[in-house]
Amino acid sequence: MRPLRQRAERETMSRTDIPQNNSPAPEPTGEGPLRRDSIDGSLADNEPFEIQVATRLSRLPPYMFGQINQLLYEKRRAGSDVIDLGMGNPSDAPEPLVVDKLVEAAADSRNHGYSRSNGILNLRREVASKYLKKYGVRLDPETEAMVCLGSKEGFSHMCLALMGPGDAAIVPAPYFPVHMYAVALAAGNVIALEVAESDQFLANIAYTCEHLYPKPKLVIVNYPHNPSTVTVEADFYRDLVQLAKQHDFMVISDFAYADIGFDGYQPPSFLAAPGAADVGVEFTTMSKGYNMAGWRVGYCCGNREMIRALGVIKGYYDYGMFQAIQVAAIMALRHTDAAVEQQSAIYQRRRDVLIEGLHRIGWQVDAPRAGMFLWARIPRPWSEKMSTMEFAMKLLEEADVAVSPGSGFGPVGEGHVRMSLVENENRLRQAVRQIGRCLSAE
Ligand SMILES: Cc1ncc(COP(=O)(O)O)c(C=O)c1O
Repeated sequence: MRPLRQRAERETMSRTDIPQNNSPAPEPTGEGPLRRDSIDGSLADNEPFEIQVATRLSRLPPYMFGQINQLLYEKRRAGSDVIDLGMGNPSDAPEPLVVDKLVEAAADSRNHGYSRSNGILNLRREVASKYLKKYGVRLDPETEAMVCLGSKEGFSHMCLALMGPGDAAIVPAPYFPVHMYAVALAAGNVIALEVAESDQFLANIAYTCEHLYPKPKLVIVNYPHNPSTVTVEADFYRDLVQLAKQHDFMVISDFAYADIGFDGYQPPSFLAAPGAADVGVEFTTMSKGYNMAGWRVGYCCGNREMIRALGVIKGYYDYGMFQAIQVAAIMALRHTDAAVEQQSAIYQRRRDVLIEGLHRIGWQVDAPRAGMFLWARIPRPWSEKMSTMEFAMKLLEEADVAVSPGSGFGPVGEGHVRMSLVENENRLRQAVRQIGRCLSAE
């Protein structure tokens, strides 16, 4: 690699600045290709050009799902009918009236220009009225609600708005990858605390704040939790807000599975806790309950200073969401509550089918009371003889069933696999039969 100074000098020279060198080319030494850049600054044709990416990329941990995704892709290309319980990518269709509205709005030429990066006001008003109706939370749509290009985009840019070198954020472990990557990409440090027991999680947050200097600046919570399926009651958030005020940390609640609760359980909103909007924001999404994952519609609501900071970042990075999508999203929020409830009931039935089937083949798995996943401890004897990744590869190779290895969610996930409820009941029964045959073949 050329020294930095030499490269910088070359990059600032224009073409005509490059000194002409009329001396004859040196004889080849036989020790590798002749570097023409030693003569006129240009690279030899056969020397690979080296791309110097930013060091922030090296802060990212290895992407653990790559191996599984590659095998899944190869199997499907080879014609295997793999049952995919890996990604939480909804496979059911959005409501027809929402799609019709999108078509109608797309035909309106006024919807094709750049939009507002924080979303059109009518959509933000609709989000505020959903919060009021469902959670009793009053939001000012002008300053306390923002539209994001999917909640993942909003979350990532919020981390960029809040975090910098030397700042630390607490994330739940096992972690949904973006909870940790977004902090790392913003140059922040991640403290991963186990999420399994909610009281212990709160106690560990308090302990960390008391003993770490500088104190964590941000705490990320995500209930119903992906991947562990842990849920909380409203009083968890009351305690969290108190802790936040006591220790001066901000809170981001990732409420992606807000709309999917089972057996009468309604996941509570962080923003319904007294004083929550003093310390934090909550992200919601239309990806899960509304089956609109590809549309990329999410929201950030709550603390106006945090939302203002996110707006500054988004104002530089994007021109807002395609307006026709925003118009259709208004219709979805306004008119499809019943469909969202039905979708939740569909996930509940799938949960039951999958759990019953797994129990039948001797795999005991706890029933979640919300979300789109089962979080299953790998049964013996496989847990003793192979890693989570090897077990997931085995199911994919031998049973044609894709699941997510728990280690993809950090070391705390080791020993588990995550199965998503995105396939229909028949396919889930089929998946259980295939898994049963694969595991009993040993
Ligand atoms: C916990 C959690 N947060 C955020 C997201 C991303 O949601 P969106 O599609 O709104 O970006 C997901 C998607 O799987 C998720 O599981």
